[in-house]
Amino acid sequence: MSESEKYRVASLQEIPSDTGLEVTAGGRVIALFNVDGQVRAIDGICAHAGGPIAKGILNGQIITCPWHGWQYDVTNGTHCLTPAICQQPFEVTVEGEDVFVELSSIPGST
Ligand code: FES
Repeated sequence: MSESEKYRVASLQEIPSDTGLEVTAGGRVIALFNVDGQVRAIDGICAHAGGPIAKGILNGQIITCPWHGWQYDVTNGTHCLTPAICQQPFEVTVEGEDVFVELSSIPGST
């Protein structure tokens, strides 16, 4: 049994192409990215030491954490060198100008 909740987190105008935006929803910090017009969302707190992933440098679909340079694929949250490390990805929907993320509330999920 799983539940998820959908949150409006931004408007499209706030995330120009090839940029990131940090938002909060449901008590989580979420990193949004616009990759060639497609909005992606992953956990916004870096698995290394808690850096603000959304404030890093986005190159294509790869984000580099601004604190120590860990890199992740924003389309699935996977660390580029160590795939076992993964920032949780979130489902994104865009309705008109509004960007929504779905946060699952499965107990124990990471
Ligand atoms: S906190 Fe992100 S690389 Fe260290």
